[in-house]
Amino acid sequence: MPLVYVQPDNQTVAEEFAQWLVDWAKEQDQDKITIALSGGSTPKVLFKILAEQYADAMPWDKLHFFWGDERCVPPNDEDSNFKMTKELLLDPIDFPVDQTHRVMGEINPEDAARAYEKVIAEVVDHEDGWPVFDLIMLGMGSDGHTASIFPHEMELLEADTVCAVAAHPESRQKRVTLTGKVLNHARQICFLVTGDSKKEKVYEILKQEGNYQDYPAAHIQPIDGQLSWNLDEAAVALLK
Ligand code: 6PG
Repeated sequence: MPLVYVQPDNQTVAEEFAQWLVDWAKEQDQDKITIALSGGSTPKVLFKILAEQYADAMPWDKLHFFWGDERCVPPNDEDSNFKMTKELLLDPIDFPVDQTHRVMGEINPEDAARAYEKVIAEVVDHEDGWPVFDLIMLGMGSDGHTASIFPHEMELLEADTVCAVAAHPESRQKRVTLTGKVLNHARQICFLVTGDSKKEKVYEILKQEGNYQDYPAAHIQPIDGQLSWNLDEAAVALLK
């Protein structure tokens, strides 16, 4: 069963998760901690808090940042998850470039996926042939997608590649995403999901009711790791 944490609002979700993340990182005894960050808007508050309040507390020198997914756009594009993270977190704390492993959104998507797989193969620990991230942060869309695994591409949950090229269902924007087996091999999987627009899917997934099997986020079940859902009151409104 996942751990479910509910806070009053998205700011408090971010504040509580930031403190948990720092405590967790400090407890890790390995000298390299691999973390795949989520994109979109939810993590923005978290990244600001980490930069402003934990610049001195977090063992940044041990962390290696990856992204769970990236839009196939240049790194200075407004849509880039890397750009958002760079502005809110990496630049303010002067995070080491050689510990930053972005998807090359500016090149051909298939080439970007293969190049990203190579970096993951070099940097991330592996078990039974799969990369095992120490922690993967995930968001969830109002359609139940996570990373860039969308309901119309459920096969990416079982893909035998580490990365895949996905397409946003409406915009058709190409994305590079970690695939389902990589997500489920992580030691810690942390969903951060807030807001009224997510409440239907949160309800169906956590209650395992309705069409929850149609939502990629429902299939994130760690093989050996720990799963947590970090939610605000708006996102759990139907569970009350
Ligand atoms: C992305 C994200 C995506 C995101 C969800 C939720 O690249 O957009 O990785 O999976 O986490 O779409 O996005 P919001 O946090 O903006 O609701």
